[in-house]
Amino acid sequence: MRHFARFIVFAIILAFSSQAGIVRAAAAPTNPDEVAQQIANTFVQLFGDHPGYRLTHAKGIVCNGKFTPAASAAAISKAAHLHGEPVSVVVRFSDSTGIPVIPDGDPHANPRGMAIRFTLPDGNSTDIVANSANGFPAPTPIEFLGFLKALNATHPDSPHPNAFEQYLGAHPDTAKFVTTPTPTPTSFGTEKYFGNNAFKFVNQDGKEQFGRYQIIPVAGESHMDDATSAKQPPNFLMDEMKDRLSKGPVEFRLIVQLAAAGDSTTDATKVWPDDRSTVELGAISITRVDPKSDDVQRALAFDPTNLIEGIELSDDPMLPMRSSVYALSAKRRH
Ligand code: HEM
Repeated sequence: MRHFARFIVFAIILAFSSQAGIVRAAAAPTNPDEVAQQIANTFVQLFGDHPGYRLTHAKGIVCNGKFTPAASAAAISKAAHLHGEPVSVVVRFSDSTGIPVIPDGDPHANPRGMAIRFTLPDGNSTDIVANSANGFPAPTPIEFLGFLKALNATHPDSPHPNAFEQYLGAHPDTAKFVTTPTPTPTSFGTEKYFGNNAFKFVNQDGKEQFGRYQIIPVAGESHMDDATSAKQPPNFLMDEMKDRLSKGPVEFRLIVQLAAAGDSTTDATKVWPDDRSTVELGAISITRVDPKSDDVQRALAFDPTNLIEGIELSDDPMLPMRSSVYALSAKRRH
């Protein structure tokens, strides 16, 4: 995540200003419900308490469109939306952090989010929840909690090595991740998004393959430097999407990157090399901003584990944890 380093500095400042940064050392919880609750609580400490909004990715815009499967998709999965007729999609683009009024040009709003709900003819649905960072800062829920707590325990004037520096020193994959820059996109439609956690894809013959989603903008990738993003109006990305859609559809390719032998399917800090083979799953064509975007986004609750036959969970421990924390966030909002 290319600007995550700056997100961290921001989080440190927030923690300092809210006086939430003074955290007592405590044994890591082992019960998954307790871990989920502590992650949720730490998001609130980092970003502030904003009832009615998501704990993270609080600011967003909901769009509508359709997904047309590619001919190649059925070979990897028997999932209903990956063959046959196009299906409707609801897509929510979002800024990072749990701050509902974060300016779109703020570097801490990176990485951007793209969540997709596919609505199936039988009334079921399935979700992809992706963001613009290739990789994740922690391999397990406990380590993610440790990462968030280290952030929260670090003030701008903490003596060095502070809690966060100590965490990075002990976690080289996290250090690599947080120092990878993430520039601001010129549009939500010119950003590439990554699913990061692996799923198991199963086809009609029962063949199983592990893969990670990538969502590629047909318009190409386009970003701006910090000096330019700092001059943008606070809602420029939300407004730009409305403007772009008034001129025509915003399109993406949905692909899946396949694991090669030896690639980790349980650790999203391990980014697979670019030379891994990919399969074209289909085309996402977004046609409008939902006129009731604000109401709809409050009601919507995406879940990366909302799956249908043909796509299964991998053993990545982050997936069930994500589901639990998203549910806590949605419950709080609803
Ligand atoms: C354990 C790891 C993670 C935790 C605890 C977590 C937590 C959360 C929470 C609480 C929300 C708000 C959900 C809601 O209220 O509807 C959220 C939203 C989101 N997360 Fe995560 N997340 C994790 C990992 C990831 C990863 C790996 C990605 C990207 C691949 C990601 C992308 C997103 C996006 C795009 C949203 C906004 C969804 C929407 O538009 O409703 N998260 N996350």
